[in-house]
Amino acid sequence: MLDLARQYSPIREEILAALADVLDRKQFILGSPVAAFEQAAAEHLGVAHAIGCSSGTDALWLALAAAGIGAGSAVVTSPFSFFASVSSIVRAGAHPLLCDIDPVTFNLDPAAVETLLKKPQTIPMKALLPVHLYGQCANWTEFSRLGAEYSVTLVEDAAQAWGAKWNGAPAGGLGSIAAFSFYPTKNLNAAGDAGMVTTNDPVLAERARMLRQHGMRQRYHHDEIGWNARMDGFQGAVLGVNLRYIAERNARRREAAERYTQLFHSAGLAEAGVYPDKGVIVPKEAAGSHHVWHQYVIRTARRDALRDHLTAQQIGSEIYYPVPLHRQKALAYLGYAEGSFPEAERAAKEVLALPIFPEIRPGEQETVVAAISAFLS
Ligand SMILES: Cc1ncc(COP(=O)(O)O)c(C=O)c1O
Repeated sequence: MLDLARQYSPIREEILAALADVLDRKQFILGSPVAAFEQAAAEHLGVAHAIGCSSGTDALWLALAAAGIGAGSAVVTSPFSFFASVSSIVRAGAHPLLCDIDPVTFNLDPAAVETLLKKPQTIPMKALLPVHLYGQCANWTEFSRLGAEYSVTLVEDAAQAWGAKWNGAPAGGLGSIAAFSFYPTKNLNAAGDAGMVTTNDPVLAERARMLRQHGMRQRYHHDEIGWNARMDGFQGAVLGVNLRYIAERNARRREAAERYTQLFHSAGLAEAGVYPDKGVIVPKEAAGSHHVWHQYVIRTARRDALRDHLTAQQIGSEIYYPVPLHRQKALAYLGYAEGSFPEAERAAKEVLALPIFPEIRPGEQETVVAAISAFLS
């Protein structure tokens, strides 16, 4: 699925020098290595404030808490995402509400969200938390309209979308506040757990900084119940190096995605009428979207058998995500029955992520598509 050795071998010396610098400075938590990365990250995205923290999950919680989303608020998000999109809402003390996804982009469907916004609510809906799944922004033209019309705060789960854009504006700068993950498999990656909150609002930025460090503005004076959600100096250093390469790496991901799509078309696997039994649906870049292909995800009706076939040939694949969030045991209390979100449920049965990373070789992609072709024919 991903060969991190190919990423790190060419920059090994650069990474070691950055780590040595942290050791020399002995700034192991926050400090100058994290501050330098925060500044470079904000400039790279074109946002006013970037706050480094301990993980994407903590970034989501910090973003919600900084925006004042807690007890007595409901937050709408996608049932087709990583668990943290919902668990962070619960951790913030708010109530998660779910809506179905758009079957083409797999992102939260704004029309379904608007239907929900129009209904009378027992708990007032204070925020929308669209997820930019697989590296593609949710439909921000529609979500920004909904935010303004219904006076709800827009929080982005940009965990998978460093470098993605919507009509030229960056993921991380679309909503009031956003959360990124730098988990080692992400496009922009740390060598451990790390995350970031971004915002153009100085008030939200100051509050997120305060909450990330036990609610302190002044040392040992606690204004609010915050948490320990700080970024390590070593992670800031590694991220600072990886940030120098992210634009080029994302460009290579885009080339790899285009190559897969061409290969599927050349093999006749993505043409009209071949899906569901003899073909696949290839992923699409929506109009106005600049996709950074964190994942290249096909749909196929015979997904599980195809995956077994690929595994037998030692070809990696992954299912993001096999169980929609409303069907998770931990979230049963939300009361969503099977059938509540048909598109999310169908996607969970059909999606298959193929190996994609900046250094993947064209020949490897040909092998993947040839194996899929052999199975489907
Ligand atoms: C969509 C989404 N949200 C949130 C997270 C949580 O990030 P982390 O694993 O860094 O806590 C992830 C990463 O796994 C993710 O993919």
